[in-house]
Amino acid sequence: MNKREFLRTAGGAGLGLLLTPRLWAEYAEMPVQRLAEEEAFWAAIRGKYRLTPDYINLESGYYSMQAEPVLEAFIARVREVNYEASLYMRTKQVPNKAGARDKLAAMAGCLPAELCITRNTTESLDTVIAGYDWKTGDEAVMAEQDYGHMLAQFRLQARRFGMVNKLVSLPIDPTSDDEIVQLYANAITPRTRLMMVPHMVNITGQILPVRKIVDMAHAKGVDVMVDGAHAFAHIDYKIPDLGCDYYGASLHKWLGCPLGTGILYVRREKIATLWPIYGDYRMTDDADIMKLNHTGTHPVHTDLAIANAIAFHNAIGTQRKEARLRYLQNYWTSKVRGMSNVVLYTPTDPARSCAIANVGIKGMGPTDLAKSLLEKDRIFTVGVDNAGVHGVRVTPHVFIQPKELDKFVAAIAQYSKRVQVFY
Ligand SMILES: Cc1ncc(COP(=O)(O)O)c(C=O)c1O
Repeated sequence: MNKREFLRTAGGAGLGLLLTPRLWAEYAEMPVQRLAEEEAFWAAIRGKYRLTPDYINLESGYYSMQAEPVLEAFIARVREVNYEASLYMRTKQVPNKAGARDKLAAMAGCLPAELCITRNTTESLDTVIAGYDWKTGDEAVMAEQDYGHMLAQFRLQARRFGMVNKLVSLPIDPTSDDEIVQLYANAITPRTRLMMVPHMVNITGQILPVRKIVDMAHAKGVDVMVDGAHAFAHIDYKIPDLGCDYYGASLHKWLGCPLGTGILYVRREKIATLWPIYGDYRMTDDADIMKLNHTGTHPVHTDLAIANAIAFHNAIGTQRKEARLRYLQNYWTSKVRGMSNVVLYTPTDPARSCAIANVGIKGMGPTDLAKSLLEKDRIFTVGVDNAGVHGVRVTPHVFIQPKELDKFVAAIAQYSKRVQVFY
């Protein structure tokens, strides 16, 4: 994005300038890799967030706070909807939500008719899993490292319809993309119908070679549903380029939308085959994605604020954001890798991860480590102790500074020296 485009999107959306025109003139043309290390630029972005002085927030992976301009716009939206009340609901709700959907479709690179706004990834992916016409003996393939509640939804289908779930386990440092593709390929049988693939594993940050997995699966007649909870507005891609049949993501994670916003993408040819979970008497067209989207009366002001979050995101730019987030992760992981008693549960190859990483200390449980980090060091992370991962997940957002990560690295160094390891 050049300076003129920036002024048009950020200024035009009423967000105000993220940077002063002088700063922008300095950074607009800078290559993203160099800009990733320009602290003055990122300090200006950080200035758009209201951050607590009580702790360093390295847990944006659950819910990423809205930037102040987005939050203010959201509050104004709440007032606007409340003011017009039922009149708003009867006359503006549907066209306004369609407008937000169109903006998201442009961001995702898909047709508006292939996308609907949901409340979160859970709703999006559960709609697909439970909307499938399962028959006894049908098989689905997924990974041990997939999100637990998604795995649970597959287990429910197994109980209800007698379908069968097959689990693979993802190596953190694969020798090649082919190793991952082969892993999934080996789990496919003539009964396999659907495969769930995480775009970015939430507990390790590992990015999977989705396109290659999809091509392999399609060649064997298997549909692919991608869990993009953490990838959307975090790394640069367009959903149709992945080739998948279904894609779900949460917007309250890396896009910085209000809580309770997500997307469901269904490839056009696949819409008719899914059963809706909720009924809607108006939606008789089997090929209309909106048949999957009737959740009743819901907080529509959150949908309105999506446009503001997109404008804020676009003003930074996905490539700049991705480069900065990867820089931050590598900044701290490169310092702790190799420390004695320290285990990294995130790929060594920087291309296979971005903001998310996970670190454990031998002899110290992840929950204890997260608790000590918060109580003693005032650093907020989350402990993960499953699927072969035993460490704290660390998810810095764009407002985090390297000097805060230095404090985290110093804390890890201290704990790694203190533990007693019995071999
Ligand atoms: C990989 C993955 N899938 C799905 C979800 C569910 O997201 P949500 O709670 O927003 O529905 C999460 C949440 O953290 C996740 O990490």
